[in-house]
Amino acid sequence: MIAQRPDVARAAALLRAGELVAFPTETVYGLGADANNPLAIGKIFVAKGRPADHPLIVHLPDASHLERWAVDIPAAAGKLAAAFWPGPLTLILKRHAAVPDAVTGGQDTVGLRVPDHPLALQLLREFSGASGGGLAAPSANRFGRVSPTTAAHVREELGDSVAMILDGGPCAVGIESTILDLSGGEPRILRPGMLDAAAIGEVLGHAPKFGGQQNAPRVSGSLEAHYAPRTPLQMVAVTALAKTAREALDSGRRIAVLAAQPLAFSHDSILYCPASADPTQFAHDLYARLRELDAMGCDLILVVAPPAHENWRAVADRLRRAAASSK
Ligand code: TXA
Ligand code: MG
Repeated sequence: MIAQRPDVARAAALLRAGELVAFPTETVYGLGADANNPLAIGKIFVAKGRPADHPLIVHLPDASHLERWAVDIPAAAGKLAAAFWPGPLTLILKRHAAVPDAVTGGQDTVGLRVPDHPLALQLLREFSGASGGGLAAPSANRFGRVSPTTAAHVREELGDSVAMILDGGPCAVGIESTILDLSGGEPRILRPGMLDAAAIGEVLGHAPKFGGQQNAPRVSGSLEAHYAPRTPLQMVAVTALAKTAREALDSGRRIAVLAAQPLAFSHDSILYCPASADPTQFAHDLYARLRELDAMGCDLILVVAPPAHENWRAVADRLRRAAASSK
């Protein structure tokens, strides 16, 4: 069921009983399970169809819980947590020995974050209580698909495989958190998000690098093909849009165009979907738009490539992966 008047106490009880509960965060909806219960975590992998060696982010009610989950915590982690939690930042730290392998995919690190959504925080406080528990929660979508940004999307993705869906309305940010690896060596952004490198750099005192080390842990969100709608998606430069659209139409395809400006010509087989010229709004709308376009039964989604500007990095990253899945 989708809980209309969210019953947080019941959600916490279901989680304690080893069931899955989907909950809103400011980024995307998460599929939560008790992070100390390997059987419950196993249900996440089954519900998502996700390979079991992919690590999960543990969600905490506040930064005071860090030491229960991580060891050798660098000073930078405390500073970043103070600056950005609750918020769309996941920190990768050396794991505490008590963290189940099911959460970390057997790696020696763990991903932690405090989400900025009142319902998520209420649930985390209620669930965590005196025990200090956390919720392991990946995005509440089937593996490789677009993350859900409403409770209805979660239902579409996961059907009855989730005991309860807390409905907190549409997610404010719309794409997944920035993942920053602080587990050794230089801080590195493993997944860009709307909290950008400049903001993180201000707190660190220097800009973080991008990308994992060699032999870096597996990050499903960094797989080339990920975050994909069912309809093939192609990114095109704005200058090539009209030509690419014409070619697709000439080959008999029905196309959807996601762009800030409509094409100069109209055609029965073109569906135009307006996109924001502002990166924050674009990110907010992106996954819902891709779902809507998927439902239209087009043969191809053309998206105008965003500007090569730092503000657009996270959006460009998700679009590039969606396009890679289409090949
Ligand atoms: O915004 C978000 O981060 C959302 C909401 C629900 O919090 N969660 C999310 O989870 O996007 P998920 O599982 O879809 O993506 C988390 C990414 C995965 O790519 C996973 O591989 C990576 O985080 N990750 C988790 N633990 C890690 C670790 N110890 N080392 C490296 N990557 C890790
Ligand atoms: Mg995901």
